[in-house]
Amino acid sequence: MEKRNTFKGSIGFVLAAAGSAVGLGNIWRFPYLAARDGGGLFIVVYIILALTFGFTLLMTEVAIGRKTRQSPLTAYSALRKKWKWLGVLACIIPMMIFPYYIAIGGWVIKYLVAFITSSPEVAAADGYFGGFITDVTQPLVMMLIFGIAVAIIVYMGVNKGIEASSKIIMPLLILIVIGISIFSLTLSYTDADGTVRTGLQGLKVMFIPNLEGMTVKGFLRVFMDAMGQLFYSLSVAMGIMIAYGSYVPKEANMSKSVNQIEIFDTAIALLAGVMIIPAVFAFMGTEGMSASGPSLMFVTLPKVLAAMGPVGRLVGILFFGMVLFAALTSAISILEAIVASFMDQFKVSRPKAVIIESVIGLVVGAIVCFGYNLLYFEFTLPTGAVAQVLDILDYLSNSILMPIVAISTCILIGWILGPKTVIDEVTRNGEKMNRKGLYIVMVKYLAPVLLTVLFLTALGLF
Ligand code: ALA
Repeated sequence: MEKRNTFKGSIGFVLAAAGSAVGLGNIWRFPYLAARDGGGLFIVVYIILALTFGFTLLMTEVAIGRKTRQSPLTAYSALRKKWKWLGVLACIIPMMIFPYYIAIGGWVIKYLVAFITSSPEVAAADGYFGGFITDVTQPLVMMLIFGIAVAIIVYMGVNKGIEASSKIIMPLLILIVIGISIFSLTLSYTDADGTVRTGLQGLKVMFIPNLEGMTVKGFLRVFMDAMGQLFYSLSVAMGIMIAYGSYVPKEANMSKSVNQIEIFDTAIALLAGVMIIPAVFAFMGTEGMSASGPSLMFVTLPKVLAAMGPVGRLVGILFFGMVLFAALTSAISILEAIVASFMDQFKVSRPKAVIIESVIGLVVGAIVCFGYNLLYFEFTLPTGAVAQVLDILDYLSNSILMPIVAISTCILIGWILGPKTVIDEVTRNGEKMNRKGLYIVMVKYLAPVLLTVLFLTALGLF
């Protein structure tokens, strides 16, 4: 069995963890939620939650990983024997997410190829996205390419695979995100009735809270959306941060690293908004933004890129290339959480663990792809949304299992073992732990209560 590796340094860990955090959640989900939920209000709530709730969960999971030097599947029982079941749940979650994440990764490849090989009008045509996902072979082939690339990197191990790829991909990703954000702010468009809209006006729509007609129920929805998003975005309650935490060198300054990951993830989410919202606003106005929902990236954005003229193709290539990078580093971390679990629990080698989980992931990934064609059905979730295989896996993992894992983790650390377990690990080299008082209040009281409300909302009970 492979000896447990560690990241070579704090930078490697921060980039790998930020790579995990920055993913489809930031680039595809954050902007459409921000647009739908009154822009600025969602952003303010999100930032406050990131600094309190997000920080608490992230710190807890990285500390559990570093303290136990175990994967998610085995870490909880290393802390308390009877809590093995929590490790099992924390390992099932990434196993549910991985197949649909690689399916969406495949969609991103498809769009990147479309922008490289043809003009933006092709991907912008009505019915392009629907035609693609209802095709039997294309999404499957794209999913296989993406999934196998992820498996190869994880196969290469913690240093040569995960750490090395993050060190190359993340700086490139930041450069592209900043470049497209600046470009988006310079846009201006005159529509058929002579109205001129600019990217800068779109930025205002994004950041200035729109409280018009806001009700308590409406505010609660914004709050819950922001909290659900934060979870997903920071890669917490998916076992990932425990796995990555187990590779953090004992001498690294954990408090500082966690702060950096938090800032990184939030900054990229905001910049993703700056890339997308001003551009969509300039070309389509407010309705274009709020009407598109989840189809923002694959349906609305290609139309915006096509409307930009010749430069739209280059921007499209850079944009989907960047999304591919972001999805890749996140998918790597999702697979690593599972592989590390198999290695620790069953004492198998890394290559064997990667092959076993990749085969499982690719088979379920194929079922996800077939959910839009061969196996098409409509299932109504408790939230009222109509779901296919992808949405069901997303709902079960994000809305049901993740809150259960997060609530249970808070109870274990806050009430059974005591917050000192985490605080001692964070300060083991004599470092100061930032926001220590806040951490104790959050892990014991606020986080479990907020998470329970989130959970009940997901069940449609609130
Ligand atoms: N945190 C990852 C994302 O945002 C899973 O996509």
